[in-house]
Amino acid sequence: MKVLVVGGAGYIGSHCVRQLLEAGHQPVILDNLVYGHRKAVAEGVPFYDVSLGDKEKVKDILESEAIELVMHFAAYCYVGESVTAPLKYYENNFVETLRLLEAMLDAGVTKFVFSSTCATFGVPERLPMTEDLPQAPINPYGQTKLDVENLLKSLAHAHGLSFAAFRYFNAAGASEDGSIGEDHDPETHLIPLVIDAATGKRENIKIFGTDYDTPDGTCLRDYVHVDDLSRAHIAVFDKLDQPGAQYFYNLGTGTPNSVREVIAAVEKATGKKVPVVEVERRAGDPPALYADSTKAKQELGWVVKFDTIDKIVETAWRWHSANPDGYGDR
Ligand code: UFG
Repeated sequence: MKVLVVGGAGYIGSHCVRQLLEAGHQPVILDNLVYGHRKAVAEGVPFYDVSLGDKEKVKDILESEAIELVMHFAAYCYVGESVTAPLKYYENNFVETLRLLEAMLDAGVTKFVFSSTCATFGVPERLPMTEDLPQAPINPYGQTKLDVENLLKSLAHAHGLSFAAFRYFNAAGASEDGSIGEDHDPETHLIPLVIDAATGKRENIKIFGTDYDTPDGTCLRDYVHVDDLSRAHIAVFDKLDQPGAQYFYNLGTGTPNSVREVIAAVEKATGKKVPVVEVERRAGDPPALYADSTKAKQELGWVVKFDTIDKIVETAWRWHSANPDGYGDR
């Protein structure tokens, strides 16, 4: 399958490109490199430094490359920033995605795989989280992703778009061969921050809240390896042959890990003690988020290969120890 990977130079997109190549597909990358990295672009893969909202250029690329399916990873993903700068998030995550979808329909491309998030659920009514829970985002980031999910439903109905939306839990880890990994600027995600605290690149890791109603008082999250996420995106291809088909899947390992457990996993992988400072809760953090991914397992045959926090952190450490400055381009 000829696949346009929008955001293919970013964290999850770049891992998905490798998985597409391994599975014998032909990826083409579109990324404006605002957050993506030129060095994360897989060798030999056609690359377009174009914004996803540039409808005419995107349409040309879809036609000239004879694209059959589009995967879309190019979103802004800082929850806190989305609260203080909502227009930026609505513009990029919603309006530009709408332009991308317009370009697709103009070019006659009707298969779409969308990177959504567990943040569309807000504070969940039940745990573990199944697909049918009410979606009530508590920040503009989650809201923009939910808005796209709803737009996709309308396009499926009106224009026969077939799509899958994957709600990721906490994407983590790096490719097993250590060639690509997680490099955000600024970095706000727990695992890379804890690794930096272990190596001395940062003074310490601040634990945001130790008084949650959880076994060790810190927040529980479902850390899921980027390569596991990527494999689900490819496993859904066959289902998109049916015009108007729509699928939603929650993707997580199903195993919650606390902030303290992540720190312990980093200490184990690195052999270094992590300096910890306990601080107040971070606004907007739900105490616990973890997935029930039975639907993806049953319908897609999805298998979680990296099924412990230790396995995930090991891959992250391999990348960070070999690339202490990430891609070194910021
Ligand atoms: N945390 C700390 N200290 C830090 C950073 C994080 O204690 O310095 C804690 C957070 O409070 C949270 C956990 O570590 O309990 C994970 O935090 P991240 O910022 O790594 O991830 P989030 O769970 O906040 O966010 C993730 C994705 C978002 C997505 C969100 C859905 O990164 O894109 O899940 O809730 F929107």
